[in-house]
Amino acid sequence: MIPVITIDGPSGSGKGTIAERVAKRLGWHCLDSGALYRLLVILADRAGISSDQVDKLTKLARNMKVEFRQRAVFLDGEEVTLAIRSESSGNAASKVAAVPEVRSALLEWQRDYARAPGLVADGRDMGSVVFPDAGVKIYLTASAGERAWRRYNQLKEKGLNASLGDLAAEINERDERDRNRGTAPLMAPEGALEVESTALSIDEVLEQVMERVRSAYPDLVI
Ligand code: DC
Repeated sequence: MIPVITIDGPSGSGKGTIAERVAKRLGWHCLDSGALYRLLVILADRAGISSDQVDKLTKLARNMKVEFRQRAVFLDGEEVTLAIRSESSGNAASKVAAVPEVRSALLEWQRDYARAPGLVADGRDMGSVVFPDAGVKIYLTASAGERAWRRYNQLKEKGLNASLGDLAAEINERDERDRNRGTAPLMAPEGALEVESTALSIDEVLEQVMERVRSAYPDLVI
């Protein structure tokens, strides 16, 4: 059994940053599951396929050739690290992610990422659907205002254009869709440690998560 830590939460909650830090501390693999939905959007866009063409979309999802190299993402050998980070691709990703057939096409694929010595996976349904037997489940939240502000700073750092007002509206729209879809909606999985991070620093969140990791895996030297 490969040990798995799941970190779920709404967009801008900081789960990607925390997942990366935890994986680095442990020397484990890291799966950014949102990137898969974002990559699918790029492919669909290029092929002129819309989110209601379910069969074509599902076929694309099954045949995606994705490679994660450190922090870079490649699609069919082309680097798309920055292209998938725009807010519009996140919003479009949330639309294709609401299609149940797309989610099941990506399911086994995501489970395949659980490799020795262990996996830290972040997303919306990591603890509830993809890795229900994970040894540690975290549900990370923050107020909508704080999440918009974090997203704004993240995009600016990457040199991408952003407006705080637009981001807040998009975050609300995305939250609404991700929480209310019929298949694998965003939710706190049973048994998860809920961390409300609005007033916490990255290090403070990391400490709470690592404490849970230590008690679940006492043999790990951290
Ligand atoms: O985490 P992110 O912002 O990169 O995710 C983009 C969208 O993909 C998100 O709004 C909903 C969808 N998603 C999902 O449905 N399930 C996941 N496990 C990860 C992301």
